[in-house]
Amino acid sequence: MDLIIKNGTVITAQDIYKADIGIREGRIAAISDLIIAEEKTEVIDAEGMYVMPGGIDVHVHLELPFCGTISKDDFENGTKAAACGGLTTLIDYGIQQKGRPVMDAINARREKADGKVCIDYSLHGGITDWEKAQSEMEELIDNGITSFKMFMVYRNEGWMADDGDLMHALEATARNGAMIMTHSENDFVIQALLRKHGPEAKELGAWGHVITRPNFSESEAITRAIQLAEATGGRLYIVHMSTGEGADAVKAGQDRGARVFAETCPQYLLLDDSVFREKDGHLYATCPQLRKKKDQERLWKAIEHHTVEVIGTDTCTFDKAQKAMWNGDFRKIPYGMPGVETMLPLMHTYGVMQKHFSLCRLVQLLATNPAKLFGLYPQKGTIAIGTDADIVVFDPKKEKTITFEGMQTDCDWSPFEGFRIQGVPAYTFSRGQSVAKDGRFTGKVGHGAFVRRKPFGNLD
Ligand code: URP
Ligand code: ZN
Ligand code: ZN
Repeated sequence: MDLIIKNGTVITAQDIYKADIGIREGRIAAISDLIIAEEKTEVIDAEGMYVMPGGIDVHVHLELPFCGTISKDDFENGTKAAACGGLTTLIDYGIQQKGRPVMDAINARREKADGKVCIDYSLHGGITDWEKAQSEMEELIDNGITSFKMFMVYRNEGWMADDGDLMHALEATARNGAMIMTHSENDFVIQALLRKHGPEAKELGAWGHVITRPNFSESEAITRAIQLAEATGGRLYIVHMSTGEGADAVKAGQDRGARVFAETCPQYLLLDDSVFREKDGHLYATCPQLRKKKDQERLWKAIEHHTVEVIGTDTCTFDKAQKAMWNGDFRKIPYGMPGVETMLPLMHTYGVMQKHFSLCRLVQLLATNPAKLFGLYPQKGTIAIGTDADIVVFDPKKEKTITFEGMQTDCDWSPFEGFRIQGVPAYTFSRGQSVAKDGRFTGKVGHGAFVRRKPFGNLD
């Protein structure tokens, strides 16, 4: 063996048991009560620690040109930060330029990422021009791009898909096994409210972001997307769901037999829109926006009831200088926040310790379900013989207070500043290589590889 993780408690989506894990050539080669080390074997003592599949964050935007700037964490630093946070795979996006193939966007992202990423990664296609993208879908799937984001919003950015295109794309997934991921917000409602409240932008401050993106602007779009999925037999995944009403719509769709899956993010579970009343409230602007405490409760319940099956971060890091571009006008705030480094400890502390869900469910939400739905399973997302040795050794007792200082992210604030956490990643391994220890990056730039994914991802 190259590496043995000894004496730990292995947590998978189904089981909890004590075992040693033996790793050879980047894969798990043995799981047993006792594995004997050879002379050159590295041994990690994980007594008192959890040994879990590394987290898979299927929703990140590294060095994304957006809102007049570029998100701060690039492929190198964003993947370092993810490793420090116990994540071993990220899925970013290659967003099509109108009139150009989606494959061009994928290749452009790969040029930026390959050789720089420190953990494995993949890309979703972003479809902004269905006319052009439709003939490419099979080829993209053959090349391991098996999921596609369509925006029901961001018309001014040229990203919005209309309902007809969304319907046709969903229709295609019923045959080809891809997944359509919708950013579900009603752009027409939001634009109308922006026109209405634009003249009072300076007086409203960051609160303007709240009143121009009401709950129904999300839940209406979610309901519409589900109806299109139902009508076509399409495969739909709702990204960054933020509202209780959205969760109700997903549950109703699932109960009727629609193939719809939903993701939420730590910020929607732990933060509420009162932050927009604070001095630096504009920092928290993200789309969809943060909601009410009542929505948080409904989202926790939606996780408990399996309406929500994935937690992702929607990491899109903008530092204070970038956020300052708003200059007091909420319509100009770069939308997004950092998250890869804090998701696992937060979800252990506020999900498991607060008894919203079990340890096995934590692994399902952050690793196994994302791997299954996005065609990475069983290579990734579990601990079993033959799988990639993407492992986080997690110290469930260590307590800390979150602060951006000392974090790997290239950000000078954290949305979770001051949050107490119990449980932190002690070691992260990517294909058997150490990539982080005690929150510090230990890996090699360029170690990460692009991973091709399979279609027909499902939770079975
Ligand atoms: O505000 C956000 N979420 N920024 C990233 C882009 C997106 O819509 O996911
Ligand atoms: Zn989005
Ligand atoms: Zn996003």
